[in-house]
Amino acid sequence: MENLTILPYTPQLEALFTIIRNRDTKRNEFLFYSERIIRLLIEEALNHLPTQEKTVTTPTGTQFTGTEFVGKLCAVPIVRAGESMEKAVREVCRAIRIGKILIQRDEETAQPTLFYQKLPEDIANRHVLLLDPMLATGGSVCKAIEVLKGHGVEEGKIIFINLISCPKGIETFMKFVPKAKIITGFIDPELNEKAYIIPGLGDFGDLYFGT
Ligand code: PRP
Ligand code: URA
Repeated sequence: MENLTILPYTPQLEALFTIIRNRDTKRNEFLFYSERIIRLLIEEALNHLPTQEKTVTTPTGTQFTGTEFVGKLCAVPIVRAGESMEKAVREVCRAIRIGKILIQRDEETAQPTLFYQKLPEDIANRHVLLLDPMLATGGSVCKAIEVLKGHGVEEGKIIFINLISCPKGIETFMKFVPKAKIITGFIDPELNEKAYIIPGLGDFGDLYFGT
C-alpha cells in the first residue's frame, strides 16, 4: 500500500515497544518511552511533506544544492489521546498552528462521537498532521477526517500519525480517504470484542494521562 508507511522495526524500536506494552511498566517510564516512539513517528512524517530545490552558499564560498520545505502546515490532535503527540510536533516545527478535534468512543459500542472542534481558519490551504496514537476500528479518525474535509482540507494533504494500528482500522481509513497517508509504528493483528487492539497496550489515553 503506497500510502502506508510503517516505521522500520529496528532493535531500538522493538525495545521501546516492549517497554510501553508491558503492563508492569511504571507511568513515568510509559510517558518517556512512548514519547520517544512518537518523536520517531513525527520525524518520519516530515519526510512526506513537499520540498523544493534550494541552493545556498557555504562558508567556503561555494554552492550547495539541497531542498527546503514548501507549503503551510498544521497539526490536529484527536483529543484526548492525540494530545500526547503535540509536544513532539512542537519540538520539530516551532510555532506550528494546532487545531483540536475532540472525539470520544462509546465504551460499550466503540462508536465515536464528535464533541468539539477548533481549527485554523485557513486550514484548507495547509497540510495536516493528524495525531492519534491508536487506530482500532478507524471510526474516530474517519470522523475527524470528515471534520477536516468539511473545512476544505484535501485528503491528499492529510498525514495520519499513530503508534499502533491494525488491519481493520487501516482498511477503513484507506477506503474512506485513499489519497491520505498513514504513518504507523506497528500493525497489530486484531481487535477484541470491545474493539481494543490485540496485543496492543490497553487504553493509551488512560495510561498517558494517568486517569
Ligand atoms: C481512543 C484512541 C482513538 C480511538 C481509536 O480514544 O485515542 O481516538 O480510541 O479507536 P477507533 O479507531 O476504534 O475509533 P478514546 O475514544 O478511547 O478516547 P481517549 O482519547 O480519551 O482515550
Ligand atoms: N483506544 C485505545 O486507547 N486502545 C485501543 O486498543 C483501542 C482504542
